[in-house]
Amino acid sequence: MNRDIQNVAVIGAGSMGHGIAQSALLAGLTVYLYDIEEEFLHTGVEKIFSGLDKMVAKDQIMETDASVFKNNLMPTVNLEKALSQADFVFEAVPEVLEQKQDVFKQLDTLAPRDTILATNTSNMSISLIADATKHKERVVGIHFFIPVVLMKLVEVIRGDDTSEEVMKVAYDLCLKMNKIPVRVEKDRPGFIVNRVNGPIRVFLSAVVELGLAEPEEIDALMRYNGLPIGHFELSDYIGLDVVYFSAEYRKQALHSEYGPNQILLDKVNAKELGRKTGKGFYDWSNGKPMIDLEKRTDKINIEDIEFVKFNEAARLVEEGVAKPKDIDKAMMLGTGYKEGPITYVKRFKLEDVMNRLEQLSYQLNREIIKPAQILKDNPDFVLDI
Ligand SMILES: NC(=O)c1ccc[n+]([C@@H]2O[C@H](COP(=O)([O-])OP(=O)(O)OC[C@H]3O[C@@H](n4cnc5c(N)ncnc54)[C@H](O)[C@@H]3O)[C@@H](O)[C@H]2O)c1
Repeated sequence: MNRDIQNVAVIGAGSMGHGIAQSALLAGLTVYLYDIEEEFLHTGVEKIFSGLDKMVAKDQIMETDASVFKNNLMPTVNLEKALSQADFVFEAVPEVLEQKQDVFKQLDTLAPRDTILATNTSNMSISLIADATKHKERVVGIHFFIPVVLMKLVEVIRGDDTSEEVMKVAYDLCLKMNKIPVRVEKDRPGFIVNRVNGPIRVFLSAVVELGLAEPEEIDALMRYNGLPIGHFELSDYIGLDVVYFSAEYRKQALHSEYGPNQILLDKVNAKELGRKTGKGFYDWSNGKPMIDLEKRTDKINIEDIEFVKFNEAARLVEEGVAKPKDIDKAMMLGTGYKEGPITYVKRFKLEDVMNRLEQLSYQLNREIIKPAQILKDNPDFVLDI
């Protein structure tokens, strides 16, 4: 296997693909960018060129370097051509399992035998995607965050059959691309960042569903405590259809409580999808909603949100998905918080945290908020930080 990666292929030139391609160019790599139609490819190339030009304008790179990077970009709608020289392939096509499996089947046939095949899925099983190939040991998860060029974090995910050598090459390539990789040792839905944040939606939706607080009252509490955006504003921003699909996926892959609740279903059915349709939990027709901080709820505390995240982080340690240190590192880099949930909770007595989680779980009738088993069996894991 070639450890010194020089040529890469990026499959899909959309929001993530063009960012991955630009980051690879900045690392001095030759990048073959592939999409199914000239039009999509063209849009991706334009975004890369304008991204490089902006970096020149900001004195982040030299103009001569930008020209070299542009020359190192090989856009093509011919998949065979894109793959023939590739040491490493980044797949960034839409988040639909059948589509990804179809692409991986082709990659497995057309790419040289030693080429590493990486998927940028944000949720789906690396192993299921690898099932479409004959050489599963060369398939790895490599999860970038948006906007790719600015966000440092990359989760490097081991599928059931990924070899250690492939994990190492993927990790080193992220370093070469000026990223901060974090190893995810087990293929579980949502990996680290999306998984730790997952139960927050279940928790806060239950608070709304039981009539304890309105979305705006919860968002006011979050903003009042210094968070850049509230949960429901963020959901509107991402798009409630996207939130709905991820809820459906987690319901099947993790726990039934992750499924979409009635409020979310009603919004999606009414095509109130948030920012993109002008209405969701908030009215976006005149731009960003104004949250009145005076409306903040006193039915939950800001700590509760951190406790729920901490509990899920504990489950990741219990399942052997990642080390406590790596979870906190990923959460800081991926969400912009000053500390990760495990470090945050260390200032409290673990017994108090567990009692509060029990209380919330009972009050809201949500099993996933119950304290993780590891908090009882091996509470010292929090020291490994
Ligand atoms: N957007 C995000 O915030 C984000 C963050 C992290 C990871 N991801 C993941 O990255 C992947 C891509 O997401 P995106 O937001 O860039 O999507 P996107 O819709 O912006 O881009 C997808 C691109 O893939 C192309 N495409 C479709 N079928 C193809 C095929 N068979 N071969 C080659 N190209 C094909 C499309 O034409 C499009 O240009 C998804 O798995 C998504 O979950 C997205």
